[in-house]
Amino acid sequence: MTELQSIYQWLENYIHTYYTDDKFIMERILLKEVHSKRVAETMVQLAGQEKLTERQQFLAEVIGMFHDIARFRQVTEYRTFVDAESFDHGTVGAEILAETGVLRKLSTAEQDTVAFAVTIHNKMLVPPASPENELFAKLIRDADKLDIFRILPPIQADHNYAPKLIEQLKIGGVLSYTDVKSVADKRLIRLSWFYDINFDWTLKLLVDEGHLDRQLAALPDNQDTRVIKATVKKYIAQRLKN
Ligand SMILES: [Fe+2]
Repeated sequence: MTELQSIYQWLENYIHTYYTDDKFIMERILLKEVHSKRVAETMVQLAGQEKLTERQQFLAEVIGMFHDIARFRQVTEYRTFVDAESFDHGTVGAEILAETGVLRKLSTAEQDTVAFAVTIHNKMLVPPASPENELFAKLIRDADKLDIFRILPPIQADHNYAPKLIEQLKIGGVLSYTDVKSVADKRLIRLSWFYDINFDWTLKLLVDEGHLDRQLAALPDNQDTRVIKATVKKYIAQRLKN
């Protein structure tokens, strides 16, 4: 068995320990199991695009597989994926990796890179880090967002937006979850993710697959949203002009 195969085997066994007759939990376990595999695949593609070494591609795949490892414990213990109502699933994910020792055969530097990427994948920003740690944190954040855009249905909500978020989006940039007051605001957060895509490969794919248009179509048509749409389109055109 290759190193990767035995890590995959470990993960599968780990997830199976959370399998349950509880339908609500089981559905969510399977959702995250499939999500983790798809994100791992995207990580390999992205690592290839960025011409990373074979070892780095291996590491990218491992991070994809493990980035949501804490989701299984989270939904089992709290019946939710909302971090604010349970625990920070990035931080706890890194703790689970350390506790179980599943990656102990990786070098110390590699284990540190995985722990950093898993911890940071769900944070608002990537804090200062070594170039290697920063690279992998950026990879997982892109791969994760891409899969979320692909699988999550558009947010169903009215247009009760927080004025602060509307004003920020008119200028452009990432929005903070702490400013979210309504379900509608989550739609704005999702849109603001387009300002938080690290690699042009991911950004182009998101646009080509229609995810930007879908997000923009969900907004009402008024003076504010016309500015918001123009700002994000200008930003993306600038990023992808080469
Ligand atoms: Fe996550």
